[in-house]
Amino acid sequence: MMRNRSWTLPAVVLLGGLPFVGAVGTNPAPQTLPAGVTAAMITTGKTVYDGAGACYTCHGPAGAGTGLAPSLADAKWLHSDGSYAAIVKTVTAGVPAPKESMIPMLAKGGSQITADQINAVSAYVWSLSHK
Ligand code: HEC
Repeated sequence: MMRNRSWTLPAVVLLGGLPFVGAVGTNPAPQTLPAGVTAAMITTGKTVYDGAGACYTCHGPAGAGTGLAPSLADAKWLHSDGSYAAIVKTVTAGVPAPKESMIPMLAKGGSQITADQINAVSAYVWSLSHK
């Protein structure tokens, strides 16, 4: 009887471990990009942010925030849930009624960027808070 017991224990440990192995295999990776976003868009979006979109003038380098406009790199969102789709909407429409800043944000930040550039810069902004 004592010999049989010593063979039972490893089998129970193995079975207990199987569901955990299965969960690891099916969980999505934390860095998964939202639908419609590619790594190339994020790269392009940084050039829009620093260039044609001029977003950095108010939101600071890498979205760090300035006295004029809030950080885009933290988990706090004033006007949306911070999803990619919501960021696209905010950038397209601007923020006519700011919550904390003294100034509004014009549509496209007052720039003349195209729809593709809005999508790219929004992908970059999304990436700032999802590292
Ligand atoms: C003239 C200054 C200015 C420029 C330029 C500007 N923004 Fe803004 N942005 C603001 C202000 C002000 C707010 C609203 C802050 C508040 O509600 O207190 C804002 C809000 C936002 C938000 C919403 C943040 C939140 O917490 O929900 C996003 C996203 C954003 N801007 C992205 C951009 C992008 C991308 C660009 C470049 C295309 C840009 N902004 C250019 C001033 C600016």
